[in-house]
Amino acid sequence: MDPGRLFVLVTLEGIDGTGKSTLHKALAKSLEDFHPIFTREPSETWVGEAVRRAIAEQKNPIVEALLFVADHAEHINSIIRPALAEGKLVISDRYTDSRYAYQSVTLDGVIPKPLKWLQSLHNGWTIVPDRTFLLVMPIDEALERLKVKTGREHFERKEVLEKVQTNYLELAQADPSRFVIIDATKEKEEIVQFVSGAIRQGFQSSRSRRRR
Ligand code: TYD
Repeated sequence: MDPGRLFVLVTLEGIDGTGKSTLHKALAKSLEDFHPIFTREPSETWVGEAVRRAIAEQKNPIVEALLFVADHAEHINSIIRPALAEGKLVISDRYTDSRYAYQSVTLDGVIPKPLKWLQSLHNGWTIVPDRTFLLVMPIDEALERLKVKTGREHFERKEVLEKVQTNYLELAQADPSRFVIIDATKEKEEIVQFVSGAIRQGFQSSRSRRRR
């Protein structure tokens, strides 16, 4: 990894309904002069398609978890690594922490120590993000926002989302220099301005440091 780089890989995380995808779209506009690569997990690759099918069929939490991990591998291979190699800024709507937060819940009681298992599956090949913006909000408010959406996924239940958000906050506590916690109840404009400002600053300093 380029030792001068500060932020090149940025991820957006949070429970369903926090406005993560809306933020992702807004950043495409506010950061367009940087020509970032906008991507997501489940990815737009063929493995991402398999993941979407697994979510819809919801048969086996281990199959689902392994597909999410396989999708991450393909995402890194075909999108993330080539973009980073070209020196691009990459912004991903969901990434590894989604697995750590969600699959820790779906695998609870299925296997011992799900988080440790998930982390060990990623070790040695994943690329750790430089910054992760975690959108946090009261569960009831997130569910209220999700009501307008039809065809809910099995993750979008109150008891699941409560645990997922707790997991996210624990991940943030364990890695405070990477995570930035965002109050997702704030006005959309304020959030977009704050996040794009932080990315702009981080990416610019990564460029100037690299030039030195
Ligand atoms: P999401 O990004 O919300 O997709 P969409 O916009 O199509 O709803 O992802 C779908 C669901 O998958 C979401 O509820 C979170 C869940 N998920 C995991 O459980 N683990 C993961 O590793 C990822 C990437 C997503």
